[in-house]
Amino acid sequence: MKSDEYSFASDNCAGVDLDIMRALNDVNQGYVHSYGDDVYTNKAKETIKNMFGGKASVYFVYNGTGANVTGISQLVHSYHTVFCSQVGHIHVDECGSLEHNAGCKVIALPSTDGKIFPEQIAPLLVGIGDEHRSQPGLISITQSTEYGVVYSQEEISKLAVFAHDNNMHLHMDGARISNAAAALNLPLRAFTSECGVDLLSLGATKNGLMFGEAVVFLNEALDKCYPYVRKQGMQLHSKMRFIAAQFEEMFGTDRWLNNATHANNMAQRLVRGIEKHPQITITQKVQCNAIFAILPESMIPDLQSLFHFYVWDESKGEVRLMTSFQTTQQEVDHFVDAINRLMQ
Ligand SMILES: Cc1ncc(COP(=O)(O)O)c(C=O)c1O
Repeated sequence: MKSDEYSFASDNCAGVDLDIMRALNDVNQGYVHSYGDDVYTNKAKETIKNMFGGKASVYFVYNGTGANVTGISQLVHSYHTVFCSQVGHIHVDECGSLEHNAGCKVIALPSTDGKIFPEQIAPLLVGIGDEHRSQPGLISITQSTEYGVVYSQEEISKLAVFAHDNNMHLHMDGARISNAAAALNLPLRAFTSECGVDLLSLGATKNGLMFGEAVVFLNEALDKCYPYVRKQGMQLHSKMRFIAAQFEEMFGTDRWLNNATHANNMAQRLVRGIEKHPQITITQKVQCNAIFAILPESMIPDLQSLFHFYVWDESKGEVRLMTSFQTTQQEVDHFVDAINRLMQ
């Protein structure tokens, strides 16, 4: 990494929101019961439950992979199939943890922007009740997608109806759900619980937490036995107040929305700065905090000597640029200036 200050590689490269640091410090007083049996955890769980309309079971875990894998493991058996997109984090970036832990089959569907649709899954629902075949168990979507694109409420509702009509559950990987909410200008519940999503991995690390994720069963009845799954999955934190305090600070205030709105705005500023060059092709809709762009190949090493970012697809010269709650206008402008200079 070239500079701590100028990373467009990932929102994971950003630090921790200072108010989250303060919240961690504030709860670092005295003794409380361990493993979540404490006032801070109960408060944060209540805050999140209310955010989703009052009917949700909330469990804190360490990270996004842990939330996805333990949450989905609760809802499927090893004879089930999980449908997701071919760029789904559960499929490409979790080291086969879902297959390893749940033992289920994963079918990854083609997608150009990370979204999947019922029409792609319907033809695959064959052999239902045939003991020789894996049985459809769950659809997993990512909001916002790995390409920074958002599902509309209508698209999510259709997926939920389709899943339920076919005895499946709908899971949402919400590692960047706050960015999606900011882009849609909707409260979180409007495109989750109110659209029929059963299980949500509620992330906030990319938006300013130090660590932690929440597994939220939006259909409360579905969480039975999950505490055992979480413990077996090594995701039960003993000093739970330190995850809970971060969530309370993030979601008990508007911080989640303000941070995500800022990250999205920085992406808009960046894309406006670079899209004017005819040599640059923006390959995805910029709706949240990610920009995918094809740059002239010769320019990439020079830019990478100045800024940290990833080449997403080497064959096309496509790069991914990400902004975060921490990105400043000045950082964006420096990046745009560098591109302007290299284009001359
Ligand atoms: C879409 C998505 N889901 C989940 C995660 C969470 O992963 P981790 O286990 O690193 O917290 C990430 C992190 O990059 C992600 O991009």
